[in-house]
Amino acid sequence: MKKILVTGGTGFIGSHTTVELQQKGYEVFIVDDLSNSSESVVDNIAKITGIKPHFGKVDVSDKKQLFDFLAQNPGIESVIHFAASKAVGESVQLPLKYYRNNLNGVINVLEAMKEFKIKNLVFSSSCTVYGQPEHLPVTENSPIQPALSPYGNTKQINEEIIRDFVKVNPDVHCIALRYFNPIGAHPSSLIGELPLGVPANLIPFITQTAAGIRECLSVFGDDYDTPDGTAIRDYIDIIDLANAHIAAINRMEQGRQKAGLEFFNIGTGNGLSVLQLIKTFEEATGVKLNYKIVGRREGDIEKVWADTTYANQELGWKAVVPLKETLLNAWNWQKKIKN
Ligand code: WQD
Repeated sequence: MKKILVTGGTGFIGSHTTVELQQKGYEVFIVDDLSNSSESVVDNIAKITGIKPHFGKVDVSDKKQLFDFLAQNPGIESVIHFAASKAVGESVQLPLKYYRNNLNGVINVLEAMKEFKIKNLVFSSSCTVYGQPEHLPVTENSPIQPALSPYGNTKQINEEIIRDFVKVNPDVHCIALRYFNPIGAHPSSLIGELPLGVPANLIPFITQTAAGIRECLSVFGDDYDTPDGTAIRDYIDIIDLANAHIAAINRMEQGRQKAGLEFFNIGTGNGLSVLQLIKTFEEATGVKLNYKIVGRREGDIEKVWADTTYANQELGWKAVVPLKETLLNAWNWQKKIKN
């Protein structure tokens, strides 16, 4: 059985990717510092797949912790690196935390790959590297814009660190997946998004408002140059996103990569406005949402959605989960955790 390391594996994307990896026959080793998740996620993954992933409480920005774990768990061939701080707003307030955590994390993972002869890396990047693209849909060759937040800047810098590393380490291969907006939850309602405190992202705020935990959803601006004035994003189901990681690992395992570092946009290819999402949520769940229009949020871009042609062709991967199913899964998960 192929052994794979998943850093940040008890997080939202990491846990769903672990489930898909196990169901495709991988032996998964999770490391997570549990700063933004709980170890109970490991048990819930086991409830879904019947297999408990190996787990180590490890801060990947601490080289010794990561190296000790890998020395005790030999034979790992690939790594998917999710572990990072990822709250855009917090990164503006605490830039050094983000640079230290997110940059040291990648550097330690790359050094560990060299030390422990781990051949393949999937890196969790973000569409945020494109900023507000001039042309839409955005392709992998769209220009990288100056980051609007320290969080986004760490993603850009990490891509450059990996690029420079694989140039002189030809035996290491990496695929960077530039995610659009991950949403939803596992259909079992055993794992999902667990935002700590007041959610920054739209879907958890919608489901918490629908559950009566939040009084009212604020829609940040309706004066954008879009059909209904609200901002447009490319919302991708978390299971579809998880499976993109497996497609990336397979590409590297089968030696189909064309270069040491490749990039892929992982989205649906469809842009959806905030009001369209609210309407679809209400249709999917039958729950009327209490919302009001307020001013724009600082740092938000107006509209972005992916051209996924390259990922569809080269990864043999496509987003398939219907939006209403995604939103219903998110709602069922919210009702589960509320109880
Ligand atoms: C989506 C839309 C908001 C909350 C961020 C990061 C990105 C990735 C995903 C990590 C925007 C609007 C939101 C609310 C609202 N994270 N909104 N009311 O900002 O597109 O992307 O999260 O990788 O890197 O940048 O996602 O969910 O915060 O916002 O109106 O209460 O919903 O203005 O238009 P975003 P989001």
